[in-house]
Amino acid sequence: MKKTAFFFALLAFAMTACVNQPAYHPTDEPFRSVYHHSPAQNWMNDPNGMFYDDAAQVWHLYYQHNPFGTTWGPMHWAHATSTDLIHWEQQPIALAPDSLGTIFSGSIVIDRNNTAGFGENAIVAAFTQSEICGQHQSIAYSLDGGMSFTKYEGNPVLMGDIADFRDPKVCWDEQTNRWLMTLACQQEIRFYSSADLKEWKYESSFGTGYGAHGGVWECPELLQFGDQWVLLVSLNPGGLFGGSATQYFIGQWNGHTFTCTDDPEETKWLDYGKDNYSTFTWHNAPNQRIVSMGWMSNWQYANNVPTIAFRSQNTIARDLSLYKDDAGEWRVRVMPSPESMAIKGEETKKLGDIAIVELEMSGNETGVITLSNSKGENVVMALDAHRQTFSMDRTSSGDCSFSQDFAAHTTTPLFVKQDTYKVILFIDHCSIEAFDANGYWAMTNLVFPSKPYSHIDVQGGKATIYDCDL
Ligand code: FRU
Repeated sequence: MKKTAFFFALLAFAMTACVNQPAYHPTDEPFRSVYHHSPAQNWMNDPNGMFYDDAAQVWHLYYQHNPFGTTWGPMHWAHATSTDLIHWEQQPIALAPDSLGTIFSGSIVIDRNNTAGFGENAIVAAFTQSEICGQHQSIAYSLDGGMSFTKYEGNPVLMGDIADFRDPKVCWDEQTNRWLMTLACQQEIRFYSSADLKEWKYESSFGTGYGAHGGVWECPELLQFGDQWVLLVSLNPGGLFGGSATQYFIGQWNGHTFTCTDDPEETKWLDYGKDNYSTFTWHNAPNQRIVSMGWMSNWQYANNVPTIAFRSQNTIARDLSLYKDDAGEWRVRVMPSPESMAIKGEETKKLGDIAIVELEMSGNETGVITLSNSKGENVVMALDAHRQTFSMDRTSSGDCSFSQDFAAHTTTPLFVKQDTYKVILFIDHCSIEAFDANGYWAMTNLVFPSKPYSHIDVQGGKATIYDCDL
């Protein structure tokens, strides 16, 4: 064997060995989330290609993954499945890089009418391939329910003409009876249409003059809620509290163009913490639900967080809908999905390393909630009824040393005045997700305490602690 051939054979062997991952041990290190999805090992960022298989009643989740290390690297689509959105089974890697590039973010649709010609009910993935010369969109199909994919021989199906040209989210457009793709292109979103998922026609662009533009726009998705439309757009950097965050726009989609009806001066944020990025929703979720999940980290420090065998986890599943705030403005309502709420167990007196906490606070005074451990580390939350804000301070939450951007104090407006405020906290080993119980706001923040928070103190309110029933 020639020296170079031997080298490549050795490399292929080493890569296969790395990709064949060991079984997933959800509690194998202190900051391993227990009821959030995380990769068995190595690096993860955005959730991708989520779809629900209604016949098998299985939720499929693919994700950006580097199988060779715990930092961002050559991107693959890894794969996990679940029947309850809480327990995840690691599946073989779904898509690996090829001569067209590494595999960046994208989406999946079930092609019920065989528009692409791959077969009835083919599972078709649309994703970005990234290489030195640019970013292009490719497709691949699965005829075994999403377990293995064949790349289309005509790839790429959409060539990039600018440097940042990625993250195709495809859906069926009822108005025009064809496929619609939203694509992030630098600081705008482009819309493309197709009859067969292979040939794409440019329709229009949206973004100039609207929303936050402190960084590149990524991971867009257009969603319909009755007679309103919502365009989700992730942004990095330039988020409300620095780094990555997801903004959204409310408006109308007419089959060709998106018209935003928001005040262009205001940016609407999907989450008011630092650690919820690249939110996407499940294609074909049951009962017309819009079920979402975000990557629970931030590009400011995602590569440096103090986990060992893996990096990053996703948020709990959240159902999205719309509501009108006190000013009559449409906003996205974010609620823990029923599957996430289903882990709420027995009431308990002691705060454990995983817990669900329900807080009740009067609409007339300020309530302060402190989670703390015996090392003096704490997270302080306040519901300020006068200022109409909820905030979370993680500046003394534990290890903040790995990034100057980690210590943070995040704040959200309450949006709707209530007589009594109810807040739900989902606490897992390295995260706190806070929700208004009516879904008026959500706040997601990572924390890395040297011991789990074991004590909760509430002034000006009442806390009820629940075990997690897993
Ligand atoms: C968002 C993102 C996407 C891209 C992927 C690469 O976090 O930058 O725009 O497709 O990550 O891993």
